[in-house]
Amino acid sequence: MKITGKKELIEIILEEIKKRGGISFKDFMDFALYYPSLGYYTSEKEKIGGYGDFFTSSELDPVFGQLLAKQFNEIYEKHFKDKKITIVEIGSGKGLLAYDILNEIKTKYPEFYDNVQFISIEKSTYHIDIQKQLLADFNVRWLEDLENLENIEGIIYSNELFDALPVHLIKKEKGKIYQLYLIEKSGEIQEDFRPASKEILEYLEELNIDIPEGMITEVNLLAKDLIQKIGEKLKKGFVFTIDYGYPSKELYKPYRMKGTLLCYYKHTYNENYYQNVGLQDITSHVNFSALVYYGKKSGLEFTGFTDQAHFLINLGLSDIMMELQEKGDYKSYERINRLKTLILPKGMGEKFKILIQHKNVENPDLTGLSILPPQNDRYKIEGV
Ligand SMILES: C[S@@+](CC[C@H](N)C(=O)[O-])C[C@H]1O[C@@H](n2cnc3c(N)ncnc32)[C@H](O)[C@@H]1O
Repeated sequence: MKITGKKELIEIILEEIKKRGGISFKDFMDFALYYPSLGYYTSEKEKIGGYGDFFTSSELDPVFGQLLAKQFNEIYEKHFKDKKITIVEIGSGKGLLAYDILNEIKTKYPEFYDNVQFISIEKSTYHIDIQKQLLADFNVRWLEDLENLENIEGIIYSNELFDALPVHLIKKEKGKIYQLYLIEKSGEIQEDFRPASKEILEYLEELNIDIPEGMITEVNLLAKDLIQKIGEKLKKGFVFTIDYGYPSKELYKPYRMKGTLLCYYKHTYNENYYQNVGLQDITSHVNFSALVYYGKKSGLEFTGFTDQAHFLINLGLSDIMMELQEKGDYKSYERINRLKTLILPKGMGEKFKILIQHKNVENPDLTGLSILPPQNDRYKIEGV
């Protein structure tokens, strides 16, 4: 099997494979995405946007951040009025969503703004440098690791963070679960399925996941640790997780026999994780049932699970579109089309989900959850 991409990074990976007698797929993905200054996210390369490899909602239009700010203001008014509140974004990338949220809070909700402390937690120092320029007008503090965050009261949110965490690849064969390793044989890299680790088997058992025979799919143990840590850091408030993915019941349906792991490179996707190493993004769908289950272990209660379309419409997107329609000029017409992209079924509107959890909050009702999508396997989280 041939590995292509950044030469220096590939040499480091090969060296590690030789030294350890093989590395798990998760460790390979960790090297490919996060190896200091050589990984996809840690190196100086445009990733998000037209010159990058993929778009995020905030790249298209500020409305996503504006309506999130509206939702956050409701939380401030109901649960934190006249008190200091901390908003934390984890994995803020270029900082566009943070910019849209802070800009909206500052202009529309000045009293809320005066009480907000904003913290951006970003593992990539390349992205922190970009954020420092973009967010220079706001009161923001930066951290590289959630571990260094003090306990807070307020809101912790992320957008497309959990899908970017390195995952294990597992396979079921003759009823037994195996996990993928990369090994070296006569100077060549090869895939090697070994019996799955105790942690992986425990995860499958705790979540009641029984994948079909022959299926290859992902197990995201870092997501389990991360959501638990988020719950530990939050003393009172809400957690918003925005990402693509499903509850377990949908995620392991037989029509996903090859799992959900995909690579993004210059706005095209492929399934060859071993090409363009360090130059392409590798992502997998989020198991939202796992976030609910493990969140509970650190006191996070389930508030609701919805998709981007319902969330944005509940918060007033239709009114914004109506106002633009009434204006009737070309610029407004163009913007309406962009806004439609955010809510199209089968597109971003359904693909992106929003899981909301809360801790030590009474009456956690939120406008963004007032009308929910149909409660089928794609939206119904087991055990809530
Ligand atoms: C796909 S980008 C998300 C972009 C951004 N949230 C947006 O809306 O445009 C994922 C980001 O998460 C960061 N990241 C990954 N793991 C992290 C972790 N454990 N803590 C903080 N940031 C992390 C990556 O460096 C990257 O900047």
